[in-house]
Amino acid sequence: MEKVESTFLLDLLDKGIIPVIPPLGVDGNGRSYRVNSDGVALEVSEALKASKLMFITTSHGVRGSGTLSAQFSVAEVESYLKKSKNELDQEMESKLRHGLRACRNGVARVHIIDGREDASLLNEIFSNEGIGTMIYANEYEAIRPAKRKDIGTLVGLIRDSVESKQLLPRTREEIGKRIEHFFVFEIDRNIVGCVGLRPYKEGKIAELECLIVGGHHENQGIGRKLMQFAESHAREKGMKTLIALSTQAFNYFQQKGGFRTGTPEHLPAERRAVYEQSGRKSKILVKDLV
Ligand SMILES: CC(C)(COP(=O)(O)OP(=O)(O)OC[C@H]1O[C@@H](n2cnc3c(N)ncnc32)[C@H](O)[C@@H]1OP(=O)(O)O)[C@@H](O)C(=O)NCCC(=O)NCCS
Repeated sequence: MEKVESTFLLDLLDKGIIPVIPPLGVDGNGRSYRVNSDGVALEVSEALKASKLMFITTSHGVRGSGTLSAQFSVAEVESYLKKSKNELDQEMESKLRHGLRACRNGVARVHIIDGREDASLLNEIFSNEGIGTMIYANEYEAIRPAKRKDIGTLVGLIRDSVESKQLLPRTREEIGKRIEHFFVFEIDRNIVGCVGLRPYKEGKIAELECLIVGGHHENQGIGRKLMQFAESHAREKGMKTLIALSTQAFNYFQQKGGFRTGTPEHLPAERRAVYEQSGRKSKILVKDLV
């Protein structure tokens, strides 16, 4: 598969038309080819940035040691495929391998459903336990600690937000000095977002700062993942309170991150001094990590 005409497909979806795509491809000379349908489903789901990929099959889901295992993480599927190499039938192996690739490339959930059962699709979606097999991506897999080589990219991301007056400018030196406090979100090895977590000695408080998602990747839940990641990281480090300061995105922190409005008294003394000098009138946001 070389290319999916995603604009065309998105256009149809916008008009409320559900495209049915046969597993046929065409080359530059107009010759048509039968292609692997699991491969087509995978490529289309990636091209459309789908949050779910569903395979409807003619068998039960995957059975692990005799019982039906309903949910697998990506790592579990990898080890299951290695262990069950000679036992799996070809169809299920193909679904698992393609499902695995989808989860690695941004699709959050892959479902393998027995299409012989009545209303299987509806049951999988609407019943709590589901009826098929689900593979779920590790949503934090795309987040890693920033390295020195990322400094230039981080400065660029921050610069773009500074231009739209949403963040304070940060220099190369400032970021370089505290690079171990930054985390980046990668898609296909490109950094598309970042978040910083600055710990204060006073009162087990950490500040979530520099939460940025690049323009092309907004509204895909990346900001939320970075925010949740920073929160659980702060918890792991024994922090009791998370604070954030924002002029434009305070609604975001409240609505999507569960922060509440705070006062300068919530800030550690060191941070309060900088806040009072800055005259920026940022809103203070607080979240208890208990
Ligand atoms: C704020 C920001 C990080 C959000 O990232 P994102 O990955 O686009 O956000 P998500 O996909 O997790 O969430 C999208 C939702 O948040 C909402 N949203 C985005 N920015 C918002 C804002 N400034 N205020 C209120 N809601 C906002 C969207 O409308 C969308 O709502 P919906 O889910 O109800 O449709 C991103 O817009 C950004 O980088 N902004 C500039 C930098 C900034 O202000 N950072 C915060 C200060 S540290």
